[in-house]
Amino acid sequence: MTNFVFQNPTKLIFGKNSISSLSGEISKENRILITFGGGSVKNNGVYEQVINSLKGYTFFEFWGIEANPDIETLRKAIILGKEKNCDFVLAVGGGSVIDGSKLIAAGIPYEGDAWEIVKKRDFTKEKVLPLGTVLTLPATGSEMNAGAVISNRIAKEKFAFYSRYPQFSILDPLTTFTLPKFQIACGLADTFIHVMEQYLTTPGQSPLMDRWSEGILQTIVEISPKVLSNPEDYDSMATFMLSATMALNGFVSMGVSQDWATHMIGHELTALHGLTHGHTLTILLPGTMWVMRKEKGDKILQYGQRVWGISGTDRELTISKIIEKTEEFFRSLGLKTRLSENGAGEETINEIVRRFEQRDVHFGENRSVNAAVTRQILERVI
Ligand code: NZQ
Ligand code: ZN
Repeated sequence: MTNFVFQNPTKLIFGKNSISSLSGEISKENRILITFGGGSVKNNGVYEQVINSLKGYTFFEFWGIEANPDIETLRKAIILGKEKNCDFVLAVGGGSVIDGSKLIAAGIPYEGDAWEIVKKRDFTKEKVLPLGTVLTLPATGSEMNAGAVISNRIAKEKFAFYSRYPQFSILDPLTTFTLPKFQIACGLADTFIHVMEQYLTTPGQSPLMDRWSEGILQTIVEISPKVLSNPEDYDSMATFMLSATMALNGFVSMGVSQDWATHMIGHELTALHGLTHGHTLTILLPGTMWVMRKEKGDKILQYGQRVWGISGTDRELTISKIIEKTEEFFRSLGLKTRLSENGAGEETINEIVRRFEQRDVHFGENRSVNAAVTRQILERVI
C-alpha cells in the first residue's frame, strides 16, 4: 500500500424525505443561487420540496444545465450569480447539474473566463463559493467528490477539473423513482466502472480496498435487475444510491494505483458524438480489458473469481470468459457495447487518436495507454 492522505469533508444526509433538512444546512444570511437541469425536478416533487424548505431565504433560480454541462450555459449562470451577489450555490439534479455547479461556484468569485478554470484542472486551492447538493440520479459520485467534467460543444471538447467538495449533499432515494430506465442503466454502469477504474490494476496492493471494491461490484450486480424492473423498489434504489456515492468518494482508492483510461477515452466519445457518459464506458471497458489483459491479467482473474465465480486452469481462456461475462452484464442492463451500434467508426477512432497524439497522453496505472494503445482499444470494440 502506498502512502496517502484522506479527507472527505462532505456531510451526507441520506434517506426518505431528507430534503426537508435543507434549511438547517444553509444560513438565512446567504444569497443562494439554486441550479437545475431541464425540468425533471418539476415532475417529481423535488422542486417543491426544495422551495418549501427554503421559505424565507433569499434565492435566485437558474434553469437549463444540460446533460454533459456546457460551458456556454454555465457562463450565463455565473453572470447571474455575480449580478445577484450570490455567496452560496445549491445544485438540484444529477451529476451534470452538480458538476456544472462546481464550475459556477468557482466562476462567480473568479475574474477571468470560466473555461480557464477548466483548463487549470487543479482549482482546489482557489477561492470558490460553498456548494450544497440535492442529488436525483445515482451515478457520478459528484455529490461527494471534488471533480467536475465540463463540455465545450463548440470545440467538441470535454475535460475534468478539480475544485472543492460539496459542503453537504442530500440523497433521498424517493427522488430517483422517476428516472427513465436508460438513465438507471447508465448510472449502474458508471458506478460499476468507477470501481473498476480504481480496482482493476494489480493484485496485492491492499486486501481491504480489494474487498471493499468487490463488495460494491457484487452489490451492483445483485441489485441491477431489481432497480431496472422496479424503479420504485425503495431499498434497492437506496442501496444503488449509496453504492454510487461510495464508488467515487475516495473510499476505495486509499493507497492503491488507479487506471481511468476507459473514462478518458469515453469523454472523447461524448465530446464527439454526444453519447451518454455511462454508455461510453460499457463500450470501452471490455476493449480496455482485452487490450490490457497482459498487464491486468492477475487482477482480472481475481475479479472474475470473486465477483462472478469464474475460475479455471487455462489462464487465457479464463481471462477471456471473464471479459465476455463483463460485456454480457452490460448488455443485460440494456446498453450497447460496440462503437458501430452507436454511430461511431473509423473516423471517430482516427480523431480520438489524433487528439491523444497531440496531447501526448499516458493513461492507466502504468501510464502505458498512449495514443497507439487507444487505437487498439477502439478497434477492439468497433
Ligand atoms: O435535466 P433534467 O430534466 O433534470 O433531466 C436529467 C437529464 O436529462 C435526468 N434526470 C436526473 N434526475 C432525474 C432525471 N429524470 C427523471 N427523474 C430524475 N430523478 O437525467 C438526465 C441525465 O442527467 P445527468 O445529470 O447528465 O446524468 P449523470 O448524473 O449521469 O451525470 C453525467 C455527467 O457527469 C459526469 C459525466 O461526464 C457527465 O457529464 N461525470 C462526473 C463525475 C464526477 N463529477 O466525479 C465522474 C463521472 O465519471 C462522470 O464523468
Ligand atoms: Zn464515470
